[in-house]
Amino acid sequence: MKKKFRILSLVTVLMFMLAACGGGSNSAGGSDSGGSGNGEIEEITIKFSHVGYAGAPKTAGADKFKEILEEKSDGKITVEVYPAGQLYGDREELDALLANNVQIINPSMTKMVVYNPQFQILDIPFLFKTREGFFDFWDNGKGQELLGTLEDKGMVALAMWEGGFKQFVNDRNPITKPEDMEGLKFRIQAGDVLESQFKNLGADASVIPYNETYTALQTGVVDSTENILANIYSSKYQEVQKYLTISDHGRLDYPVLTNTTFWNSINDATKDVIMEAMAEATEFEREEAQKLADQYREELAQDMEVNELTDEEKEVFIEKLQPLYKEFEDIIGKEYMDAARES
Ligand code: LMR
Repeated sequence: MKKKFRILSLVTVLMFMLAACGGGSNSAGGSDSGGSGNGEIEEITIKFSHVGYAGAPKTAGADKFKEILEEKSDGKITVEVYPAGQLYGDREELDALLANNVQIINPSMTKMVVYNPQFQILDIPFLFKTREGFFDFWDNGKGQELLGTLEDKGMVALAMWEGGFKQFVNDRNPITKPEDMEGLKFRIQAGDVLESQFKNLGADASVIPYNETYTALQTGVVDSTENILANIYSSKYQEVQKYLTISDHGRLDYPVLTNTTFWNSINDATKDVIMEAMAEATEFEREEAQKLADQYREELAQDMEVNELTDEEKEVFIEKLQPLYKEFEDIIGKEYMDAARES
């Protein structure tokens, strides 16, 4: 009963997000907004491309979405999932979505910086304190305004999937204080916030596509990186990195996006069944993300030396990062930063 209610409320939230993005039904009398217009689920194929490896929560979520949607649509909708960047890497997948070469992607929000620098709010270190606060911000709070800005860019956010809190890995020494990072060269995803984070902490940063990062670490192009535990484990960084620092210093999460060309071309019955499947897959993906993070933390400890920052140690990092908070408050917006801080 409780679970049913949670799924229902999530559907409501997602419908709200869609309405905010202008992606819902556009018909005055409730008739179909596109596609065949006969109110029946259309026979379509959805290509879902992502960069996650087997064992990552976004991979599990995409596979679950396929399973649920194909079943709910009685096989009328086929979902082709292309994982591990095999179709498009993280630099190409956004363009591919806008060109309607694929219909769904779930990039890390950081990669969306090219469309709106405010999306870097996830990267601001030590801003979101809890997982619950994070979801509240995106499901019920100011985060919905940010997702609404995608409308102008030709994209619709169907859901927010969880990656989780980011941790540091490196191959030189344990990290307990900013000085331990001096001179390390971190692989980063993208964006000025992440560059500034490492600069303020005395380290270098280099943007490298996700699916090329293992090789970059292995060959010494970089000697450190940050990511969620599921990506560290499923990318096998433990084979080429010795030290893992549990810092929970930033978030890495995934808006699930479609493009407006595709979305406006399908009828309401098709949209509805996609949204129902998405709501259930979202519930599953978020639970999976948390379960996997716990599991991988234990497994990584078998291959890596692990330390966890204490609250006092985190305070030293936060102090060192003060210039960053000032630098990005205007870009991201104080009201959004405050809402995230309080959530
Ligand atoms: C990364 O580039 O580290 C992440 O965006 C990968 C992912 O999980 O999408």
